Amino acid sequence: MPSTANTPTRGSDSTLTIRPLTDFTAAECTGVDLAALRPGEWERLVEAYHRYSLLVVRDQDLAKAAQIEFSERFGDLELPIRKDYLGKDYPALHVVSNLGADGKPNPTSALDNPGNFFWHTDASYMRKPASTTLLYAIDIPPQGGDTLFANMHAAYDALPQATKDRIEDLRAIHSWEQSRHNSGSRAASKEEIAAAPPVAHPLVRTHPETGRKALYLGNHTSHIEGIPIEEGRALLAELLAHATQPQFVYRQQWRQGDIVVWDNRSLLHKATDDFDMGQFVRRLHRTVVQGDAPR
Ligand code: OGA
Ligand code: MN
Repeated sequence: MPSTANTPTRGSDSTLTIRPLTDFTAAECTGVDLAALRPGEWERLVEAYHRYSLLVVRDQDLAKAAQIEFSERFGDLELPIRKDYLGKDYPALHVVSNLGADGKPNPTSALDNPGNFFWHTDASYMRKPASTTLLYAIDIPPQGGDTLFANMHAAYDALPQATKDRIEDLRAIHSWEQSRHNSGSRAASKEEIAAAPPVAHPLVRTHPETGRKALYLGNHTSHIEGIPIEEGRALLAELLAHATQPQFVYRQQWRQGDIVVWDNRSLLHKATDDFDMGQFVRRLHRTVVQGDAPR
């Protein structure tokens, strides 16, 4: 299929350029202002988003309200399960950072959410998990603090046929409570468990827009429905190890002003903790779009 992603619409004064960063994940977008899109630009961004599952839009200068407005083009925004994650001025915009209550970099503050350092897909413990997440870099350490993304379409496609047949109709149980346990976080509260009780999702899901199949698993999974718990966990661990091999991974090395828009139905992601969190500030603005129940 010939790509039209890089052809500006005739008659538009768009300077948007879209360039793939790897064979199948991540397209870099430059020459665009997400707060003031020109005719044809949204359509080209969406096409690239569906093709590469992730957009890195460079050099943005976005107020919180502008990020929310752009995010809402993808659908209704989702509020986090954790009450302390509700943004103070804009509830749907949560600040991801390693800043403590005193406003200074603080390693234990970042480690407050160790789940981010494990492969996951956002909010898969919900009946209707996140479709898209947008993360906008405000402050970035001089080195490190990258985010890794693994492509679950490519990982699924590369499975042996026997494995595809074996997992075709399986469902994994995803659970906020188990997720907290898996990452060694503080235990889930009663209120959180009530808001996100365990839910079963297909282990192989079909993307609602592109029709492509993807593995759907990660740190929020507990076990596989209908098979012994430990056997299911072993299968999940084996699939996760396969799916996060280097050939399926894109590494986002953040620049200030980057906004990364990713598809949680297609990718797993995790943060890296390879910078001095007691010295450097890492701060990003995060908005999350609610998706459909996986099928
Ligand atoms: C997230 C997330 C990773 C990071 O915001 O959902 O997993 O690198 N962030 O901050
Ligand atoms: Mn995440």
